[in-house]
Amino acid sequence: MKTIVVIGGSKGIGKAIVKTFLGTHKVINISRSSPEESHSNLTHMGCDILKDELPEINIMDALVYCPGSINLKPFTRLSLEDFREDYEINVIGAVKALHKYLDVLKKADHPSILIFSTVASKLGMPYHASIAASKSGVEGLVKSLGAELAPKIRINAIAPTVTDTPLASKLLRNEKMVENIKERHPLKKYLSPKEVAEMAEFLLSERASSISGQIFAMDYGIVTFKI
Ligand SMILES: NC(=O)c1ccc[n+]([C@@H]2O[C@H](COP(=O)([O-])OP(=O)(O)OC[C@H]3O[C@@H](n4cnc5c(N)ncnc54)[C@H](OP(=O)(O)O)[C@@H]3O)[C@@H](O)[C@H]2O)c1
Repeated sequence: MKTIVVIGGSKGIGKAIVKTFLGTHKVINISRSSPEESHSNLTHMGCDILKDELPEINIMDALVYCPGSINLKPFTRLSLEDFREDYEINVIGAVKALHKYLDVLKKADHPSILIFSTVASKLGMPYHASIAASKSGVEGLVKSLGAELAPKIRINAIAPTVTDTPLASKLLRNEKMVENIKERHPLKKYLSPKEVAEMAEFLLSERASSISGQIFAMDYGIVTFKI
């Protein structure tokens, strides 16, 4: 049975990814809080990616990095510290995990990595300066490492639009906001974590063996269409 390590599998998109893989894989979750889910294939390792040493893991076929942020403010209210914090959790945390686990991943037969960007790195929206800058860093990392790690390890990113997770709860906190968010998308929906997990499952599988260094928009049309 293959082993997948999900950093940030206790909540949101990561939690849905854990659920998707549990029946068929050994899953190791790394996050500050424990997942609600318990399963004989699931191991939890408590760790704050920003503060703690990542745990030793000896076998790994795939690595998913989920921690991220949505820190939306007018540019004049975004402090240097805001920019640094967003960069830390979105980019440096992922780099830290890659430094730690690349050698283990290299020992697998068809290793694969998945990281998360956002639609805001392609679509200019007010108040997104800090997160757009950080996630553009994530996309650069994926492109560059895709080349550097070929042919042994594949690395891709998903760039979701609004997804119904704890991170996005402020954006979806009442019926009016939910309707506004739907209305802004040409396909009149926003994402569920399960939809994103299904894409993650495909990208991490050998069915996606031709795909590396790519950023996949799951955008309900918000970046792609002007209607
Ligand atoms: N939700 C959206 O609308 C949306 C839109 C675009 C992009 N994204 C991106 O998609 C990714 C997943 O987002 P999400 O909405 O699922 O986020 P989420 O609901 O906040 O879940 C994040 C996960 O990461 C873990 N985590 C956060 N900080 C951590 C830390 N310092 N150390 C260890 N684990 C940490 C959390 O667990 P603990 O709190 O237990 O540590 C949780 O399991 C993020 O990169 C986000 O930027 C999300």
